[in-house]
Amino acid sequence: MKRLHGPTEIRLFVNGETRRVLVRPSDTLLRVLRERLGLTGAKPGCENGDCGACTVLLDGFPVKSCLMLAVEAEGREVVTVEGLKDTPIQKAFIDFQGFQCGYCTSGFLLNAHALLTEHPEQDDETDREWLESNLCRCTGYEGIRRAVREARRIAAGTR
Ligand code: FES
Ligand code: FES
Repeated sequence: MKRLHGPTEIRLFVNGETRRVLVRPSDTLLRVLRERLGLTGAKPGCENGDCGACTVLLDGFPVKSCLMLAVEAEGREVVTVEGLKDTPIQKAFIDFQGFQCGYCTSGFLLNAHALLTEHPEQDDETDREWLESNLCRCTGYEGIRRAVREARRIAAGTR
């Protein structure tokens, strides 16, 4: 692995755009997305890997951006909630009230978007297990699971 001794410029592909940004070796991906790139959809919660509020997609898979260094994302594709505009999961969360206060919502949206991609067929058990990595302090889990089921129907064109 390359040794870094100070601020260094990295290149990220974020929501379909190439972004160059100066980071310190200790900067988390979460901090860089929010404070350097202005993408505040990813939320700081526990900053310890437990809550999932900071979830983003890295090369299509959900990661907790509070646990990842920005330099580790160099050259990789990052999707934040700002990149999920007009997707079935966004529509379903709105239509089926998959949120209450909304603090956990961006993390759930990204995790659920990846779930729909990996498991397009309905399977309640898989949904439950997949979504376990995210916490909702408002305990809105039933609404979230309902929204995920509906998003599959929207994606399949049956609604
Ligand atoms: S803020 Fe990253 S898992 Fe809680
Ligand atoms: S909607 Fe409030 S924390 Fe989940």
